[in-house]
This record gives sequence, structure tokens and C-alpha cells, in this order.
Amino acid sequence: MSELIIAIDGPAGSGKSTVARAVAATLGWSFLDTGAMYRSICVEAARQNVSIRNEEAISALAERSIIRVGSRVLINDVDVTEAIRTDQVNHDVSLVATYPSVRSAMVDRQREFADGASVGTVVEGRDIATVVFPNATLKIFLTASLEERGRRRGTEGIESIQRRDEIDQNRETSPLRRPVDARLIDTTDRSVEEIVKEVVSCLESLPLK
Ligand code: CDP
Repeated sequence: MSELIIAIDGPAGSGKSTVARAVAATLGWSFLDTGAMYRSICVEAARQNVSIRNEEAISALAERSIIRVGSRVLINDVDVTEAIRTDQVNHDVSLVATYPSVRSAMVDRQREFADGASVGTVVEGRDIATVVFPNATLKIFLTASLEERGRRRGTEGIESIQRRDEIDQNRETSPLRRPVDARLIDTTDRSVEEIVKEVVSCLESLPLK
């Protein structure tokens, strides 16, 4: 079991996935994109003709589905790596992510994933430092200007990311919050390399336990 966790949270387009993946590669740690898990449930719901508004059915589907998130994303053995990035999923995912039983099923799997890592895990999402790993080794909160986040998201559009931010910040269960003990990094106008260096040097400057 590994207890080394870098938790990276932040709104859509703040650079979480890019930074988290690069930090993990630099350190030789595992990487977990938790948003991909919530997204995969939307794809599976459409495949099974389950309405995303049916909380009970979506919760049951989330609890019994086998989700694998790595270089490819699979749900119940179907590769959904590309299917999780459509406009429809961008639209549906924040609603599915408000359902408490969906969240608790995903949180259990996220902790299991980190337990199985050989060295440490870089985990990114919305509630990683607050709920999933409140005792993470290092907590990072990424932000960027709305214009920059919209530019990074290209076709998704500013309105869609604002709508998701709004739902993610205001839901009752595990809303997107910046924990007081997280290091805030504004990624606007900064290169990925610079941010990765900052995160790695934060980790290296921690007192050895
Ligand atoms: O990449 P981007 O930040 O746009 O989205 P994502 O990380 O793929 O997450 C998609 C959606 O899943 C978010 O807008 C949240 O509604 C939800 N999510 C969440 O609630 N908790 C997480 N730990 C990760 C994602």
C-alpha cells in the first residue's frame, strides 16, 4: 500500500490532467484522472438507455460497473476513451457527479487504485484533497482565467465550462473547494514545464516523515 499522494483539484480547463500526468511521469508515480470515471458512467448510461436524471438507476449502474482508467478508459470492458469527451457527456457529467451514491462508489475505487500503486499516485479531480485523500502528501489547487480555460477547452465553449463550474461548486456532496492547506497555482500564461517544476519542488521541500 502506498501512502504517497499528490492531490490536484481545480475547475475545468485549469490544467489538472496535463499537469498531473506530467508530474506522475517525472516522478515515476501512477496517475489517476477521476473525471474520466464520472464521464464513463454517462457513456454507459446512454448505452444501457438509462436516463441520467434517474438517480437510483444511475447509482445502481455506477455501483455495479467495472471501470478502468489508465492510458485508455474502459467501462464494463468497452473502450470509451474517445466517447467520454463528447458535448453530450460534457453536458451530462456534472449532474451525474451530484449523486451521493455515485460519488461514494467512485471514491472507494479511487482509494483502491492508490492502494495498488507501486510508488505514489498523482490524483486529479474536484474533491481529491477535501474528501478522497484529506491526508494527501501534497495538495495543489490549479486555477486559470476563464478566457484561458475556455481557450484550452476549444469546442466545449466558455458557457459549458461555466455551467459545469457552477454545478460543481454548488452541489451539496463534495463541492469543488480550495482547501486552506492546498498550494494555489494560477496556470494562466505559464508553461506546463514551469508548473510541473513548481509541484515537484513543493514535494521535495516537504519535511521527511
Ligand atoms: O477535464 P475537466 O476538468 O473539464 O473535467 P473532468 O476532470 O473530466 O471532470 C468532469 C466532471 O466530472 C466535472 O465537471 C465534475 O462534475 C465531475 N468530477 C467530480 O465531480 N469529481 C471529481 N473528482 C472529478 C470530476
